[in-house]
Amino acid sequence: THIDWDIDMAEKGGYPDFMLKEIHEQPRVVRDTLVGRLSPSGEIDIDELGLSLEELNDVDRVYVIACGTSYHAGLIAKNLIEAWARIPCEVEAASEFRYRDPIITPSTLVVAVSQSGETADTLAAIRDARIKGAKVFGITNVVGSPVARESDGVIYTKANKEIAVASTKSFIGQVVSLTLLAMLLGQVKYRLTTNQVRMLFRELGDTAEQIQHIMDTQGPAVHEAALACKDARSALFVGRGMGAAISCEGALKLKEVSYLHAEAYAAGEMKHGPIALIDQGFPVVAIATKSPTYEKTVSNLKECEARGAVIIAIATEGDEEIGKLADHVIWVPKVRDAFSAITATVPLQLLAREVAVLRGCDVDKPRNLAKSVTVE
Ligand code: G6P
Repeated sequence: THIDWDIDMAEKGGYPDFMLKEIHEQPRVVRDTLVGRLSPSGEIDIDELGLSLEELNDVDRVYVIACGTSYHAGLIAKNLIEAWARIPCEVEAASEFRYRDPIITPSTLVVAVSQSGETADTLAAIRDARIKGAKVFGITNVVGSPVARESDGVIYTKANKEIAVASTKSFIGQVVSLTLLAMLLGQVKYRLTTNQVRMLFRELGDTAEQIQHIMDTQGPAVHEAALACKDARSALFVGRGMGAAISCEGALKLKEVSYLHAEAYAAGEMKHGPIALIDQGFPVVAIATKSPTYEKTVSNLKECEARGAVIIAIATEGDEEIGKLADHVIWVPKVRDAFSAITATVPLQLLAREVAVLRGCDVDKPRNLAKSVTVE
């Protein structure tokens, strides 16, 4: 008898591609990355820290260095580190950092973010930073990888092996890990109380279920939005604050897997250039979740709408205003702004994949891209 069993489908856990399978693993990644990270007394616990709390307390400048999607996790982290620890934080592409002469002192903390732990530019940047006297902390998905070995301390992202070239679950693991690091810095700088940390930690854990809820309910909305993008020549991703950082990852994901040109822009900067692109039917994907700058983003979207843009909004459940403005709305649960990247990125991953499928692209192995870039 013939057994209808396909090894390929089995590896993909029944999903049509690894990218979708990995997107669906994200609630687990959030949970696993948080296991054991809050001590009974309410302190963030990173046992592989490699730095004493005194050394951490001494940190007066943070650089996050990374490439690609990992760089975007850094953009999210900057907001959190500056908000919770009040330490100036810069985010730089490792390929730039390594050839500059950045200002580094023994009080500088360099946070290197790398899924693979072997990206050539990121490793070179780590080595350079250590020679110049910085403390280096790695965030990686691969145990014992060069980034882990060459850093003073490390957080592992617990995403497990990621196969699709375009990173999804690793990004979520990185953002959660960086959030923990930002909380720890807030704590050692006496800016966050243990009660605040407990509350943040609980809400961070809740994002696992919130991601699941998005995946369970927003498929049809994502599909409709993808149909609106699939024949476009270009798409613009906009947002403010956390939303600006999230839009960078949304645009990158779409480019990588669907070959559709996409650009991310801080919404308030649209009038200084990108608005010239907008004509009838031009897709604008907006991170329009409830945040301190929500109203400002909405007014930017009105300007796009007046010029004929098709507006796809990632919005907070219960928002009645946005439906009047946007052509398509993908809903995400209400979360505090600090955690909005974890929820709002999920629909953008799903959108990119759906557009790629509609355009007949190989979502797991986009042309010209490699999973890890170990040569310069
Ligand atoms: C490649 C991959 C991306 C990844 C980037 C950085 O470009 O295709 O998905 O974000 O490298 O990789 P890393 O392993 O350092 O996070």
